[in-house]
Amino acid sequence: MSRHFLDLNDAGGDAIAAMLSDAIDRKAARSALPKGSADSDAPLAGHVLAMIFEKNSTRTRVSFDMAMRQLGGSALVLEAANTQLGRGESIADTARVLSRMSDAIMMRTDDHSKVVEMARHATVPVINGLTDRSHPCQIVADLLTIVERGKPLPGLEVAWLGDGNNVLSSFLEAAGLMKFNVRAGTPEGYEPDPDFIATAKAGGATVTVTQDAVAAVKGADVVVTDTWVSMGQDYADAKLAAMAPYQVNDALMANARPDAMFLHCLPAHLGDEVTQSVFEGPQSAVFDEAENRLHAQKSILLWALGQL
Ligand code: CP
Ligand code: NVA
Repeated sequence: MSRHFLDLNDAGGDAIAAMLSDAIDRKAARSALPKGSADSDAPLAGHVLAMIFEKNSTRTRVSFDMAMRQLGGSALVLEAANTQLGRGESIADTARVLSRMSDAIMMRTDDHSKVVEMARHATVPVINGLTDRSHPCQIVADLLTIVERGKPLPGLEVAWLGDGNNVLSSFLEAAGLMKFNVRAGTPEGYEPDPDFIATAKAGGATVTVTQDAVAAVKGADVVVTDTWVSMGQDYADAKLAAMAPYQVNDALMANARPDAMFLHCLPAHLGDEVTQSVFEGPQSAVFDEAENRLHAQKSILLWALGQL
């Protein structure tokens, strides 16, 4: 069985719950193994993942590569600029060629329509490794980080501060599927994508959008932020100025629950969206979150290849 993972809705709430459970089990089962050795069952032995990058990456690239190794398979990195895609070969033809030589395709790109086009023509699963619209793999890792710290997802209050970007969109999608609530503290003009707000609400989540950073964080279980300037965007002075009141600092964190955790998908820009004090502080789970990209990718790959 072959399933695309372009957004969290492609999997749905039950499959995401299964991914989280599988990731927790696999992570525990291999804790004593060297990072490059395979899990005892090596469920993807002989399988190859082709990874296409049209944007930079550290975590996504390394976690998918290591995920394939730990599942018994391997991965290829294709920097788009060095492939014929970079010279204008169509996504449709690339999809058909890669489908003949690999078992799954992961693509990081700008316009979301490119992963949709890849999926339309591929005969193997296509996984969205980040587009301008969404970042679903990141959110599986974030949910894993939340649940492994003993916070149940239903009813959870998640505060998002800053730019209403692709990562927030996937958080909103997850909220509808896993039944938690999102309070977005965003400046005028940088609010969350209305389509994702509607999806979250349709799933039963409460979504609050406010320009009051303190109101967004008040009583939150999880406080999340991300860069103010995503890949492909310009460093505009007006945007940075608008974002300044939404910086996650100690004073803002003090409004969250005392046991609230801080998440950031990384890379971080200390002194902009978060202070060093919060980033390095006791509430920060950002490096567990980064490690969990690996454990989450394994479950996403197993699901996409019909083994979960
Ligand atoms: N969080 C994340 O996707 O990191 P990379 O851009 O390094 O892959
Ligand atoms: N919003 C960021 C996430 C990076 C992982 C971006 O798109 O650049």
